[in-house]
Amino acid sequence: MNTPALTSTHLTITCVGAGRLGTTLCRLLLEQQSTISISIGQVLNNSLESSLRAVEFIGDGAAAKDSQQLKPADLWLISTPDDAIQEVSEALAKSGVLAPGNIVFHCSGSLSSKILRLPDDQCYRASVHPTHSFANPTKSVSTFPGSSCAVEGDEQAVKLLNLLFAAIGGMCFPLKSDKKGLYHAATVMACNNLVALLAMSKQMLTEAGIDAAQQELILNPLVRQTVDNYLNNSDPADSLTGPISRGDETTVATHLNALSSNPQWRGAYTVLGEVAVGLAQQQGFASSDDLKKISDLLASATDQ
Ligand SMILES: NC(=O)c1ccc[n+]([C@@H]2O[C@H](COP(=O)([O-])OP(=O)(O)OC[C@H]3O[C@@H](n4cnc5c(N)ncnc54)[C@H](OP(=O)(O)O)[C@@H]3O)[C@@H](O)[C@H]2O)c1
Repeated sequence: MNTPALTSTHLTITCVGAGRLGTTLCRLLLEQQSTISISIGQVLNNSLESSLRAVEFIGDGAAAKDSQQLKPADLWLISTPDDAIQEVSEALAKSGVLAPGNIVFHCSGSLSSKILRLPDDQCYRASVHPTHSFANPTKSVSTFPGSSCAVEGDEQAVKLLNLLFAAIGGMCFPLKSDKKGLYHAATVMACNNLVALLAMSKQMLTEAGIDAAQQELILNPLVRQTVDNYLNNSDPADSLTGPISRGDETTVATHLNALSSNPQWRGAYTVLGEVAVGLAQQQGFASSDDLKKISDLLASATDQ
């Protein structure tokens, strides 16, 4: 297969699905100053109005009405919602616009480049997942530098994308294609599920008769201190405090009793409690006997 994208000093990128992430990345790629200069070929969204808005924000390129209007490009960024990526790649392959040596990539966190339905002998595939919240493109253009970017795919595509994403401030690291699901679930645990956990904590305080203002006074400093401790320590075990860290079985029994009316709360408490027992074993403050009793208590609550 040809490798024009790897040997050129100027490349054209076309973006299908220039929403929050796509517009931000196109603008950053356009402005980057590596050994390869980039121009934006076309932008194709669901609606022409949306494509025109994206072109205006990016500052380069032309809006396309549909995939039949697409012209040749070197790089193809598919930044539609995840559910549309495969279908868009199929449409690109069918349109006949792709040329040997083209690089097609997407930015989903959970899907690998294998989802791209392209002829094997025609294009290089990759995915790049930036750990960045692209809620507001204007803001993201300046806050993107420093964001971690998980990169996987065909070697030739990975090489070029590493270079370009490093040029826009991305901190690229390699990820195995078959580990993307696990990697993304891990980021969701630390981000989205942390919010869900805090929401659950607030529900419990409400049930305990504590009003919203008082809940903030209780939780906000506690959460800040805990996250600060966690960020200042390289090992999570160094940040664990509380009854499980101390091996305080009676307190855990009181908690399980208090949570018995709500299986969701008790389920979350027992699962996370087991993880905390593992951390407490590493810490070594509590005796093995006490931690075993706590572990048995948590297991029996899980079985109920
Ligand atoms: N947002 C983030 O923080 C973030 C972070 C990391 C990774 N990602 C990944 O980035 C990708 C894009 O996410 P996003 O948040 O930027 O999405 P978004 O803001 O919702 O934008 C999606 C864009 O895709 C267009 N689109 C939808 N279906 C299409 C189709 N079949 N053909 C052409 N265009 C289509 C939409 O066009 P219209 O405007 O016309 O509807 C819209 O412009 C996803 O894979 C996501 O997992 C996002």
